[in-house]
Amino acid sequence: MKGIERLSFYTSRYYIDLKTLAAARGIDPDKYLVGLGQEKMSVAPPDEDVVTLAATSAKQALEGINREDIGMLLVATESGIDQSKALGIWVHHLLGLPKNARVVELKQACYAGCAGLQLGLSYLETHPNKKVLVIATDIARYGLNSPGEPTQGCAAASFILSTSAKLVAFEKEHGIFTSHVMDFWRPNYSETAFVDGKFSTKIYLEALEECWNSYKEASNRTFADHAKFCYHLPFVRMALKAHERLAKLAEGEFDIAQVSDSFTYSRSVGNSYTASLFIGLASLLETSQEDLANKRIGFFSYGSGCVAEFFSGCVLPGYKAHLKADLHAQILHDRQALSLAEYEEFFNFRLPEDGSTFFCSPYNTKAFRLRGIDKHERLYEPTCC
Ligand code: CAA
Repeated sequence: MKGIERLSFYTSRYYIDLKTLAAARGIDPDKYLVGLGQEKMSVAPPDEDVVTLAATSAKQALEGINREDIGMLLVATESGIDQSKALGIWVHHLLGLPKNARVVELKQACYAGCAGLQLGLSYLETHPNKKVLVIATDIARYGLNSPGEPTQGCAAASFILSTSAKLVAFEKEHGIFTSHVMDFWRPNYSETAFVDGKFSTKIYLEALEECWNSYKEASNRTFADHAKFCYHLPFVRMALKAHERLAKLAEGEFDIAQVSDSFTYSRSVGNSYTASLFIGLASLLETSQEDLANKRIGFFSYGSGCVAEFFSGCVLPGYKAHLKADLHAQILHDRQALSLAEYEEFFNFRLPEDGSTFFCSPYNTKAFRLRGIDKHERLYEPTCC
């Protein structure tokens, strides 16, 4: 059965409460809590970056997996650290993955994680005895005092794809929509994203309609054939609106329980771009009180620019034994709240760009940390635990 054998995510050990942010920006907190549906937002300290997030989540996902079986490592990100070298090579090195594994970085905004999933499943057609490690890792940055500020966040999700799936097996039908739109982008010279916020939410919903229509045509499935839905989660309210729109379009019966469990983790992590869909899946599988075995999930991935896809998968019997619910609950619970000044200090931190040597002060990271930079080369190290 082809699909996800293991799934794990990791987010920074620091967050800002959106009530703190709202008070500082002179905004009614209900705009963030109700209007956007978000409560907290993870913030990366100076020695945590997309590589340490990725490597830590992958280390967790690889527990109990024979690393020699990994034939391919695909890393999806839109906050990459190098124009040439694939981020996955640092992860490959930090985790001691096999020398004969193919490693490549994927980019198409938040859609790239879904591209990793589909490419990984295709690879398994010709390499059924291998496994694929897919990592989606991102730090969402819009800028202090910008409308996008409360929709920032950071996290990485890692999953192992194999022919011995334990969590979700995917079906082959899908609906894809690609269109040249400038709703969100980040030129090479910019640290923060450029975004036409209202336009991006409109395109997200239009792309959902297009994808659903072609998925429906390919699969002949109806809204009611899906017990649960996982959407790309820039913020919870966006996914809620998407679900309302889909129920109407597909003449289905809207029920908040079809989506609410998938929101739990993202509500307090914030946007993690490529990772958010898979954190939504972890949240659904791990926080739902229902037995989801044999239930079909509809997935919607949206990457600005834009490429979007609707696809489906079924939860496998026995899935609960392979979840990492306790670990994930602990990661979220153990985070430390930042004051506004600490959040702004983390946000404004930059590594030197002139080739000088710089060592980062140690903050609280989990398995790995960015030690510093020397002659333009980033240096990483495992932490003591
Ligand atoms: N109490 C309750 N609700 C309130 C409120 C209050 N006091 N004040 C405002 N609201 C509601 C508003 O009515 C609005 O709800 P509706 O959408 O139902 O009208 C909601 O809160 C948000 O308010 P605004 O529309 O006024 O918010 P804004 O314009 O300041 O910013 C945003 C919203 C455009 C999403 C902005 O945060 C942004 O640009 N975010 C980044 C872009 C983004 O996330 N786009 C999502 C689609 S693109 C994508 O998905 C890819 C990706 O990951 C980026």
